[in-house]
Amino acid sequence: MNKLGQLAYMPLWWFETAVLGRRKPLQSVVFISDRCNLSCRHCSVYNHQAPVDKSTEQIREELEFCLSQGSRFVDFEGGEPFLWRDGGRTVNDLCRMARSMGFYSCTITTNAQLPFDGSVADSIWVSLDGVGESHERIRGKGTFARLEKNIAGCGCRNLSANMAVNVLNADAVAETIEYVAASPYFRMISLNFHTPFPGTEHMALDPDRKREIIDLILGYKKRGYPIMNSRSGLRKMRDNRFRRRCWMTNFIYTDGTRSPQCMGESLGICDSCGFCMAGEESAIMELRPDTIFSGLKLRIKE
Ligand SMILES: C[S@@+](CC[C@H](N)C(=O)[O-])C[C@H]1O[C@@H](n2cnc3c(N)ncnc32)[C@H](O)[C@@H]1O
Ligand code: SF4
Repeated sequence: MNKLGQLAYMPLWWFETAVLGRRKPLQSVVFISDRCNLSCRHCSVYNHQAPVDKSTEQIREELEFCLSQGSRFVDFEGGEPFLWRDGGRTVNDLCRMARSMGFYSCTITTNAQLPFDGSVADSIWVSLDGVGESHERIRGKGTFARLEKNIAGCGCRNLSANMAVNVLNADAVAETIEYVAASPYFRMISLNFHTPFPGTEHMALDPDRKREIIDLILGYKKRGYPIMNSRSGLRKMRDNRFRRRCWMTNFIYTDGTRSPQCMGESLGICDSCGFCMAGEESAIMELRPDTIFSGLKLRIKE
């Protein structure tokens, strides 16, 4: 389907969900493995003892399920997606498979510790938790230099950064936004806050500090810095009193659990959620023009 046909799906989807009240995901996060080459201080996903790589067949079934629910965009998550293997297959084969099945685009989130030139993903999000030492405080020694080398060599046109802000890197937000703006490799940065999944509660910022940082981000945004988060979405995250519509993204976890939304709801931690997608999804349903514009910009470039 061409881009125009794809874009036409969005208003239809919005009508069905906002007007007819159906809960249909538009995007899916599919965890393909919990194998990882890092042990980041804020992360509760990696599994070094008994890592699981899903089979291609299992992932195909899961993608079919997501499509049947209405989803058209998929993000492959891990663990580290570039470590995934099934025989000779790599995550590139999964991206091709997803598009041939009907997904409009496929994105990958990576720690950029392995070369990823030749990736066929429509867009790649590189986790960047600071510049130099602040990134390494969370991700370990040598991780920043490897990230810089691999983003310089990847040849990806659609490469962006994702920062998860927590108690260890909150002071590095301004520097990281400026680093991305000056980088010839990154298009933009998406900012998220730590979500206190069990065992990582100590990494979360207190609400006042979080608000302070959102104000700082809004200031950078106003000055034209390449920040993916929309103003409306950020304001919702700052005030934290918005109606959540997180069912816009469904999740399939490494153990195969199919969840119609992020596991934060079942864990009862929505009030302290740091995933700014929550604010963006709420703003989309209210047809906030700046959020729609940010979303379309993202999707059209893919
Ligand atoms: C779990 S990682 C998997 C992909 C890849 N290994 C990476 O690091 O990019 C996906 C993203 O989730 C972020 N993340 C992990 N735990 C988080 C948490 N508790 N709150 C917010 N973001 C988190 C990571 O920083 C990363 O950007
Ligand atoms: S690289 Fe990603 S999956 Fe691995 S430990 Fe870090 S955040 Fe978790």
